[in-house]
Amino acid sequence: MSDDPAILRHGDIVQLTDPKGRHHTLTLEAGRSFHTHRGALAHDDIIGRPEGIVLSSTGGTAYVVLRSLLEDYVLAMPRGAAVIYPKESARIVMAAGLRPGASVIEAGAGSGALSCSLLTAVGPSGRVVSCERRPDFAAVARANVERWFHAMPSWWELLEGDVDEVSGGLGGFDAMVLDLLDPWEHLATAARLVRPGGVLVCYVATTTQLSRTAEALRDSANWTEPHAEESLVRTWHLEGLAVRPDHRMIGHTAFLLVARRLAPGTALPPRRTRPAKGARPDGDGYAAPPKSQ
Ligand SMILES: C[S@@+](CC[C@H](N)C(=O)[O-])C[C@H]1O[C@@H](n2cnc3c(N)ncnc32)[C@H](O)[C@@H]1O
Repeated sequence: MSDDPAILRHGDIVQLTDPKGRHHTLTLEAGRSFHTHRGALAHDDIIGRPEGIVLSSTGGTAYVVLRSLLEDYVLAMPRGAAVIYPKESARIVMAAGLRPGASVIEAGAGSGALSCSLLTAVGPSGRVVSCERRPDFAAVARANVERWFHAMPSWWELLEGDVDEVSGGLGGFDAMVLDLLDPWEHLATAARLVRPGGVLVCYVATTTQLSRTAEALRDSANWTEPHAEESLVRTWHLEGLAVRPDHRMIGHTAFLLVARRLAPGTALPPRRTRPAKGARPDGDGYAAPPKSQ
């Protein structure tokens, strides 16, 4: 068999793109066919050919054939829980400082979308531990990860159960990612699991979760001052002189809250910035009533 990386093989995950730009994702299997209402395409007509070819179905529709990228796969994968979108996965990998050989623990695993990015970033010399309390979601995550890597990655552990319990006895991770409803409830676990200097990334969908988690991080005194961000990706329409942002975009997915683990017994120097008026309901932070003229 050719070891040319461009040649498509049995087991590859490929994406067929039709003239309207719609993607169909399939795993190549000798002897099988891909069927749509626009006719069939035999996998055997794809296997052994290079990526980037155009093939026609029996109904005459042309498809561009390419291996799926991880970002294509994540958007096409079967879902149990909602997945982290590629725009945030990419930021998480960077914000968490992940590199080949790094160790990272996440909760929950959900559909395994972020797990695939974490596993790719740290590689076989690294370690990824994913915790998931719902057995049905854990099964989806396992299937999605195994399909992407063609087998169970040797550097991945999927622990079924509550993160606070199943992670007992673990520690020393370079990073932790929390993608669950109540990250503020799991900060003691995060402090136990992340080594000094390691990174905690919390993925939260709403401002109330963001505020509550940030205040809990500060109160715990185990972390540096948290940093919050969101990523907006705007795709563009490109047609002759009609070059402009697309009318539709994904307006909101989530916020990332990032902090670094302090060494045990370390206290941050007092913050020099004054809280904005109205930031806290319990002090003199409320805005003063307007003066009558
Ligand atoms: C939004 S999903 C995670 C999606 C995942 N990051 C992905 O990209 O596919 C949140 C998951 O956290 C799990 N979960 C919630 N609380 C948990 C806990 N205390 N321990 C472990 N898993 C938990 C839920 O069952 C759910 O599957």
